[in-house]
Amino acid sequence: MNDIISQNKSSWDAIADSFFGVTSLPTYGCLCPTEDELHLFPDLKNKKVLDIGCGSGHSLKWCGDHGAAELWGLDLSTKQLENAVKFLSENGYAPRLYNSPMEQNPGLPQNYFDVVYSIYAIGWTVDLQATFHNISSYLKKDGIFIFSWDHPFMHCVDAVDEQLVFSGSYYEKEPFTFKKNIGKSANRSNSDHSEEDGYPMTLYNRRLSDYINALSKAGFMVEQLVEETDSETLTRSCEFSSRYYSACKAKKLPLSFIMKARKI
Ligand SMILES: C[S@@+](CC[C@H](N)C(=O)[O-])C[C@H]1O[C@@H](n2cnc3c(N)ncnc32)[C@H](O)[C@@H]1O
Repeated sequence: MNDIISQNKSSWDAIADSFFGVTSLPTYGCLCPTEDELHLFPDLKNKKVLDIGCGSGHSLKWCGDHGAAELWGLDLSTKQLENAVKFLSENGYAPRLYNSPMEQNPGLPQNYFDVVYSIYAIGWTVDLQATFHNISSYLKKDGIFIFSWDHPFMHCVDAVDEQLVFSGSYYEKEPFTFKKNIGKSANRSNSDHSEEDGYPMTLYNRRLSDYINALSKAGFMVEQLVEETDSETLTRSCEFSSRYYSACKAKKLPLSFIMKARKI
């Protein structure tokens, strides 16, 4: 597991500059409704927030712009955090940032935060249960945890001969490694699997029940699960595309999911 974390860290360091501000609040993911439409976050005025996998800090800026009193973040990538420090200080914010894998607590306070969130980062964990236990420990009672990630259907569905085919297995659990090139979309893509060059990254496939059951074991109650494509994509016409995140796929299934849970 440590090998996976250190490989993913090197790769995220290498590609950090090309993921500056990619997938950040109010955006939750790919062709799905935004926070402006969903209103999952509570009023952030005077709240303490923690971003897990904060990347370049754009979501933390969004929280600051919405009145959060304290901005805290954690990320595996040293380069992402360098970018976040620069970006947030240029925007007048002084966040507390930790360079650490989310699977470990680098010294974050317990029972402290009103809101912990993670935009397209939770799926990178090599230990979902440990990560959710950590997050639960950081939150006050009744604190809110919100995260987004690829919908688990995404690793099952391929574009073949202008058709979407359920070719993978929802039950596949083994970690898989793919190579990511600079300038490609925020997550894996089917074509990435065959790329010879690029930076190796390893991910686990998980089912929705894996997330929900791990949340429950970590002391959370799920308040909302969003599996939606945005209305603009649903109503416009689109040409078939074999891209991983394509509008024609989004018309048939959610590309991303968003979970909102409360610490009980
Ligand atoms: C798609 S980016 C997240 C974007 C960010 N949430 C934002 O709002 O701009 C995914 C982030 O997860 C981080 N990451 C990957 N594996 C991680 C791990 N095990 N622990 C902590 N962060 C991790 C990467 O370094 C990267 O910055």
